[in-house]
This record gives sequence, C-alpha cells and structure tokens, in this order.
Amino acid sequence: MSHILHIDSSPRGDRSISRALSKEFISSWKATYPNETLTYRDLGHYPVPFVSEDWIAAAYSSPEQYTLEQATAIAISDELIDEFFAADRCVFGVPMYNFSIPSNFKAYIDQVVRVGRTFTEENGQVKGLANGKKVLFITSRGVEYGAGSPYEGWDCQEPALRYAFQFMGVTDIQFINVNGLDMGDEARKRALDEAQSKIQELVNNW
Ligand SMILES: Cc1cc2nc3c(=O)[nH]c(=O)nc-3n(C[C@H](O)[C@H](O)[C@H](O)COP(=O)(O)O)c2cc1C
Repeated sequence: MSHILHIDSSPRGDRSISRALSKEFISSWKATYPNETLTYRDLGHYPVPFVSEDWIAAAYSSPEQYTLEQATAIAISDELIDEFFAADRCVFGVPMYNFSIPSNFKAYIDQVVRVGRTFTEENGQVKGLANGKKVLFITSRGVEYGAGSPYEGWDCQEPALRYAFQFMGVTDIQFINVNGLDMGDEARKRALDEAQSKIQELVNNW
C-alpha cells in the first residue's frame, strides 16, 4: 500500500481544467488501487504564506533557538514537509501563469525547499533528501509551446517545477502538459482528449 499527496493550485473552482484533470487522475487511481491512502491540499483556495524574515531566521537555526515569532512562521513549513515526506506519490495540478507557476505554488515550493529538511549542504555540495518519490505535474496552459509555435521556448513552468523538485532529490518526475486550452473549441478538445489518454496510461503504469 502506498500514500498519495494530491495538491491543486488553480484559484478557479469548477471551471479549472487542472483541477478537473488532477481529480480525474485521482478518481481513476482510487478506483484501480482502492487500498491506497490519500491526502488532499487546496493551495488555490487556501494558499500558504510567503516566507518571511522570521521564517528565514528559523530555517537557519535550530528549534531550541527559535523566538516565538520564528516558531510560528516555520510551523507551516514543517507541516508541509511532513506531508510531502509521508507521500510515495504526488499529483500536482498547476495552471500556467505568465509562462511560469502561480504565486501560490511558488509559495508552496519556498515552504518545502528547506535546508536540513529536504536538502543538505556539505562542503559546498547540495544533496536532496526527498528520494524515492514519484511526482506528477498536470499543467494547464492557454496556448501552444511546441516546435514552430509563436511561444516555442517560452515555457518557464516545466523547468521551474522540475528543478525545484530535482533539487530536493526527486528523480522520478512526470509532466502532463495540457496546451492550447484557450485556442478554440477544437484545440481544447484535442488537448483534453490527449490529456485523458495520458492520465489513463499513467494510472495503469506509474
Ligand atoms: C493570470 C493568468 C495568467 C495566464 N498566463 C498564461 C501564460 O503565460 N501562458 C499560457 O499558456 N496560458 C496562460 N493563462 C491561461 C491559463 O493557463 C489557462 O486558462 C489554464 O486553463 C488555467 O488553469 P485552470 O483552468 O486550472 O484554472 C493565464 C491565465 C491567467 C488567469
């Protein structure tokens, strides 16, 4: 039995494509593997705080030295990291905003990428500590990014996500990037059909 962490980050509700697709993945996963356990977090509607001066001071000291303000600021980071470590698999629904990630997902990354917890630094060498997990990003995008498209090379979302998690030691990272959602009905239908078949493929073989 394994444990799955499911996080959404679109501020939209029923109209959100990344939410609909991450939900589809999880429903299909649960139907296929009914004994698997699940934690859900909704960053789109319940964002986590940005890191602050107290947070940074706490991250670079030890709990016995925390002031009350520092202990309060770092508590959410510990909760998010514990939740992340508890999962064997993570499914993240992430819209593309301005060629990258929404600020709520960046705030999440800033909370979980933490020295001494998800990575260490020794003699100038960084070592990720979140090994052995599988991470899937389902991203939703308005336009196309493929070869020959006007925005070819503009995708800063996939690298931002990949490198943050790779830095924490995750090596098994997959993307279902759903492009062209705001380019008319035909393009949207094609993108959704393709995403749905990739979801099924991965549910059967992840
Ligand atoms: C604030 C904002 C910024 C966006 N920036 C981009 C962008 O840079 N590139 C893109 O392809 N689509 C962009 N879009 C379109 C969204 O990625 C697209 O509508 C996607 O479906 C949103 O995810 P959701 O349906 O899960 O809410 C943007 C949408 C919003 C609201």
